[in-house]
Amino acid sequence: MKISVIGAGYVGLVTGCCLAEIGHEVVCTDNDPAKLKVLESGGLPIYEPGLDRVIENARKDKRLRFLSDPGETIRSGDAIFICVGTPPLPDGDADLSAIDNVARLIATEARSPKLVVEKSTVPARTGQELKRALAVYGRKSGVELRVASNPEFLREGTAVGDFLHPDRIVVGVEDETAEKQLREIYRPVIERSFQCPIHTPKCPNGPAPSFVVTTINSAELIKHASNSFLALKISYANMVADLAEKLGADIEEVTQAMGMDPRIGSTFLKAGLGFGGFCLPKDLQAFVHLAERSGVDFSMLKEAEKINHGRIERFYEKVREMLWVIRGKQIGVLGLAFKANTDDVRFSPAIDMIRHLLAQGARIRAYDPEAVERAKAILPEIEYAKSPYDAAQDSEALVIATEWDEFRKLDWERVQKAMVRPLILDGRNLLSPKEMKARGFEYRCFGRASANA
Ligand code: UDX
Repeated sequence: MKISVIGAGYVGLVTGCCLAEIGHEVVCTDNDPAKLKVLESGGLPIYEPGLDRVIENARKDKRLRFLSDPGETIRSGDAIFICVGTPPLPDGDADLSAIDNVARLIATEARSPKLVVEKSTVPARTGQELKRALAVYGRKSGVELRVASNPEFLREGTAVGDFLHPDRIVVGVEDETAEKQLREIYRPVIERSFQCPIHTPKCPNGPAPSFVVTTINSAELIKHASNSFLALKISYANMVADLAEKLGADIEEVTQAMGMDPRIGSTFLKAGLGFGGFCLPKDLQAFVHLAERSGVDFSMLKEAEKINHGRIERFYEKVREMLWVIRGKQIGVLGLAFKANTDDVRFSPAIDMIRHLLAQGARIRAYDPEAVERAKAILPEIEYAKSPYDAAQDSEALVIATEWDEFRKLDWERVQKAMVRPLILDGRNLLSPKEMKARGFEYRCFGRASANA
């Protein structure tokens, strides 16, 4: 099928590239000329494992093009995926102005019937507004424009795999034609009939994805409710961690056993510095606002938000307890990205934590395998190290702020030699307290009484 993608941000790029990978003819546009230039020249403006291979395949087979002309992009596709940003407004509501702009463009530029697919994360009932906007802006054109919602559940760092091997594909539609079109678009994923670029020679066995057909309102709600539930889970685990520390228990043991109950599940129970990134915090905030506007008291979501904000202060208490005076001390930081396997530093707990330490007069020497360049743009006042060992050099404490796998397997003897004081403050519970102590480190983390005694 011919597909247009509006917005070459994270979601737009992964969606466009993966749709091309499964055999569609995709044209993608963005209103940022610099981003388009990088893409047109074969580069990628984001770091996402596996995406380079997918984009290369798609370009080789001439199934993916980037265009600066939004009108031409809109006219090229039978289905148009809206993947523009919906950033938070100062009051926490989602800013939907980009969606409104795109609706105007589609309504005025389309010359043939289109399926308009809302992929950006939006509050429930946005689909209805989008439908109305398309009708208003296109009232003279007479072109038929159908609306559907197809929320994304792409995690940064594993987004290509999430797109090609999802557990469910949710489509919110108003008629059978839209459902049929979306089923056709995702048919290769549902039937697993595409050549998988990430698993060679063959993909792991697993159940085929469910194709879930709902109303547009439900599809929008599914997305917000899912992300907010994940946020609740993390905040819950963080509170249990605080309690475990006081009661002499170990949060890792507790959550491991909790997670064995299939009703609970083992993921999103990792205690630490809390959740960040451009999705979870923003979606949670927008969901709180949506509930408030709808007259529903959903204060448990606010509590999850509050707990999450408190994680930085909680961690800072540990730093202060160990270092006593912070002013003038050099602290090495491992990790800047909001989580592992991404270069994204937006709403990163690591960055918040560094700002907190800077405000207390600490000197920071930070390292991240992928996120240094992006961090420099928002945090120019710190020193950037070339390796974990360089970050440890002459530091009085080494903070682990992002759960990168490479931080589990450092040459700890080398780290210890480089540091002024062998003190590890593990904000992601990445390491074993017992092992670190055996290696001669002082070690602090979240919710493990033995380590924090
Ligand atoms: C999220 C959703 O998971 C995805 O489905 C959605 O569509 C986009 O938003 P992403 O933003 O990539 O994906 O991040 P996610 O993997 O959800 O992690 C969010 C944050 O929570 C990270 O800062 C991570 O470090 C933190 N986290 C995650 C925890 O603190 N503990 C956990 O157990 C899991």
